[in-house]
Amino acid sequence: MISQTYLSELFSLDGRTAVVTGGSSGIGRAIAGALARAGASVVVVARKEPELAATVDELVADGCRAAWVSGDLSTRDGVRAAAEQAAGVFGEPDILVNSAGINLRPPMSELDEDVWDTTMAVNLEAPYLLGRRFGPGMAERGFGRIIHITSQQAHRAFVQSGAYGVSKGALESLARSQAEAWSPHGVTCNTLVPGFVMTPLNTRLSSDPEKVAALAARTMVGRNGLAEDFAGAAVFLAGPASGYVTGQAIFVDGGFSVH
Ligand SMILES: NC(=O)c1ccc[n+]([C@@H]2O[C@H](COP(=O)([O-])OP(=O)(O)OC[C@H]3O[C@@H](n4cnc5c(N)ncnc54)[C@H](OP(=O)(O)O)[C@@H]3O)[C@@H](O)[C@H]2O)c1
Repeated sequence: MISQTYLSELFSLDGRTAVVTGGSSGIGRAIAGALARAGASVVVVARKEPELAATVDELVADGCRAAWVSGDLSTRDGVRAAAEQAAGVFGEPDILVNSAGINLRPPMSELDEDVWDTTMAVNLEAPYLLGRRFGPGMAERGFGRIIHITSQQAHRAFVQSGAYGVSKGALESLARSQAEAWSPHGVTCNTLVPGFVMTPLNTRLSSDPEKVAALAARTMVGRNGLAEDFAGAAVFLAGPASGYVTGQAIFVDGGFSVH
């Protein structure tokens, strides 16, 4: 019993509310599930309703408190509307996870302004706007956790990084700026950095067994990432234990980045 109390003090999210963008698929879905199972009331935000409903149904069936909001984070109005709806479900969030992301990958010479704008809107502007909407309230209440999902492409070019790598590099800078602003008020802001994770985002690469094996060999652990690999790190960054960890980029990549 002592160990349970101790673990709860470090990691329990009981009584917390969370908003997870991109929470209906891949890494975001795994993180939404982890936060909900650790005790948080979780609102998942994405566009497609069937995937949102399936995610929430699974969590509710497991005894979790969860709900979904369908919204398009590629426009400023869409972000604002989704933020208000999400806050209306369980109240203002204590935890914000920005996992919604797109990777369009045209060759650099063919990267047009539409791809650039859409990439920046979803991957960078939406996290900025959501931070601006929820961060000051977290600071006022004296507790908050903002977690961005960036990419190894914030640190290196990798398979036509194009606009995607730029958006992720800027997102890591945003986390540091947010950390500087709000950490004195109990709000930590960090990023989780995936390597190569087998999710719908990577369908093309994931369906090539030779490339999958070559990428696994570049890790130290010897396999590519799974969405579930992010559960523990997300619970840590969302909870009491990580109160002195802020402005950091934490690599969850099986050693890919240091091999
Ligand atoms: N998989 C990897 O290897 C990898 C590597 C590095 C970084 N990452 C990053 O990790 C995060 C999660 O990626 P993932 O692999 O889990 O991808 P995923 O399975 O494709 O999930 C992406 C999520 O974002 C949502 N989304 C996309 N565009 C949206 C929009 N305009 N408005 C609202 N929601 C939107 C999607 O739902 P809807 O389509 O229904 O909107 C979905 O829930 C992303 O930020 C990605 O850049 C992934």
